[in-house]
Amino acid sequence: MAQNDEKREKILEIKDLCMEFQDGKQTVKAVNHVSFDVYKGENFGLVGESGCGKTTLGRTLIRLYDPTSGEILFNGKNISGKLNRADRDYVTRNLAMIFQDPISSLNPRMTVQEIIEEGLKTRGEKDKEVLRKAVSDILKKVGLLPEHGTRYPHEFSGGQRQRIGIARSLVVKPSFIIADEPVSALDVSIQAQVINLLMDIKKEMDLTILFIAHNLAVVKYFSDRIGVMYFGNMVELADADELYDHPVHPYTKALLSAIPQPDPLSEKSKERLYYDPSIHDYSVEQPRFQEIRPGHFVYASDSEMEKYRKELEEQG
Ligand SMILES: Nc1ncnc2c1ncn2[C@@H]1O[C@H](COP(=O)(O)OP(=O)(O)O)[C@@H](O)[C@H]1O
Ligand SMILES: [Mg+2]
Repeated sequence: MAQNDEKREKILEIKDLCMEFQDGKQTVKAVNHVSFDVYKGENFGLVGESGCGKTTLGRTLIRLYDPTSGEILFNGKNISGKLNRADRDYVTRNLAMIFQDPISSLNPRMTVQEIIEEGLKTRGEKDKEVLRKAVSDILKKVGLLPEHGTRYPHEFSGGQRQRIGIARSLVVKPSFIIADEPVSALDVSIQAQVINLLMDIKKEMDLTILFIAHNLAVVKYFSDRIGVMYFGNMVELADADELYDHPVHPYTKALLSAIPQPDPLSEKSKERLYYDPSIHDYSVEQPRFQEIRPGHFVYASDSEMEKYRKELEEQG
């Protein structure tokens, strides 16, 4: 069911955001005119295949990169321009990122205590006892023990390391978390544990989460809304149910067709779809990201919109 967007508070507004890299003579448009909002308290799933710009978008939002153009508003405050010290503090206090690889993102020469307390120290906290207590509290919250603080990352399993990564992001008590494929590098058997942990913490700490995944199956169960990226573009965005039941962009349909079905019979009869971007003829009509049903957006030209609308009508 489409929710009433008017009543929900926007925590993040992304307007026509572009992030380009210069690769020799070539310009890589990693994020290409992307616009969407994230509502306070929601779990927003961002999906798309490897290389489509998800990490770049995440890093741009927390201002590890300077956007090439466009605007980012956080709680109504513009955080996309040149940041002075106070603005930079505001961004790092409120937005945090959990990285994909819990091995390479943790400094092997630092103890868990040192790794986790870093964010608080950057913020000027010097009191040893305050730091120790903060780390001990957050370790408990992520299912580790206070005494783990004296150990080094290599002494932990992959799942535990990701818990340390989560603790490091959360110790500063941000309100918005970007979880960049936080379970992709983990054994399938422990992926659900880490996701459940994140969801519990989200509730407890009243967080908003942008959860990045390369595969729709991962975000299917816990996302409120889902955005699909293809080659730097956001091609479709809708409530999770709407996206699953009524996808319109052919790329979304292809991603959905790749999700294995638990029932062997339907798995056998399922048709696997492949996306061929050359089916779009944008030589005359330019595509735009437009609303096809309330809260359901798709990247399409006007004639494609007409075709997609007919498809949706036929589905009832
Ligand atoms: N620092 C960088 N310099 C140059 N190109 C980059 C850089 N980071 C990412 N890219 C390019 O931007 C595109 C998007 O990459 P990325 O955001 O990592 O995608 P994803 O996270 O979806 O796999 C890719 O073509 C990648 O090669
Ligand atoms: Mg990535």
